Amino acid sequence: MRISLETAVALLNSGKVVGVPTETVYGLAASIKYPDAIQEIFKLKGRPSNNPLIIHAARFEDIIFFLKEASEDCEPLSKKFWPGPMTLVLPAKRGFIPSIARANLPTAAFRIPNHPLTLELLKLTGPLVMPSANLSGSPSSTKYEHVVSDFGIEFPILDGGICDKGLESTILIRSKEKWKIIRQGALTSEDFEKVLGYRPTIQYKTSAVPICPGQMYRHYAPRATLKLVKSFDNIKKGVIIGFSDRIYPQNCDILTLGHLFEPELAAANLYAILRQLDQEGHQEAYVDINFSPQGILSTLLERLERAANI
Ligand code: TXA
Ligand code: MG
Repeated sequence: MRISLETAVALLNSGKVVGVPTETVYGLAASIKYPDAIQEIFKLKGRPSNNPLIIHAARFEDIIFFLKEASEDCEPLSKKFWPGPMTLVLPAKRGFIPSIARANLPTAAFRIPNHPLTLELLKLTGPLVMPSANLSGSPSSTKYEHVVSDFGIEFPILDGGICDKGLESTILIRSKEKWKIIRQGALTSEDFEKVLGYRPTIQYKTSAVPICPGQMYRHYAPRATLKLVKSFDNIKKGVIIGFSDRIYPQNCDILTLGHLFEPELAAANLYAILRQLDQEGHQEAYVDINFSPQGILSTLLERLERAANI
């Protein structure tokens, strides 16, 4: 159910969970002051308790308050990309953050989201923990209706329209004097190179033990089976998730992400298309991955591989 900003503030400040828009995806928010509300988030999502949450704040000062060490290392990034779709994992003062939110880790993840309504909300509530507003493992929500579909019409949601980016924030951690990407997202390693002078490596793809717990799980996946393909030569019928500037076999049903030459828009449509697949009751779909995975298309391909359980 749609609620006003005032109602959202009142609910969060009395220990309730609220659906909240961001520029990446919708989140399920609880005040960092209410461990019971944070517990409720895990329950609502069906999320494993060893998968920590991101702490969202309106200002960098609010984040510094939680940090164990001086913040100089993050300043070039925070100045350039906050508010925005970047999350930094930093050593945290444990006593200041409920252990359930950080899954007992000595670090915590922080982000200043870039959505006017949510920045206003955060100024009135203080820091909120927020995972993406979807059932654990399923595609994230990029509009109000998606959150309703997962949590029901009675669930209180602040409607902030369609999410601009449509993909989650990029998560970085500092290790051996360098930043590494532990979850690809709306900002690319090329974006970070411009500020850091080097291209941060993408850690989780190669490591045996992922340092971003969420990357261990099946994720972003519709119920339908996805088959990622580079050629449609042998496909005669079925559903295809593809691009509007491509030609596909005549007897197939096409769900289009948009033009390949507007990759940001195509990426922003991904979760809506994956949800549409299930809504229309399709059992399987072919996905066109015949593109070079550069920039945001690298994140798009990673999400498709996860959604296809590769
Ligand atoms: O764009 C986003 O980041 C969205 C919006 C709502 O802000 N949030 C989001 O949250 O994607 P969630 O919970 O779906 O994903 C958070 C990821 C998880 O994979 C989790 O494992 C990782 O952040 N994470 C949280 N704290 C961490 C930590 N201390 N160390 C490593 N990874 C951490
Ligand atoms: Mg998520």
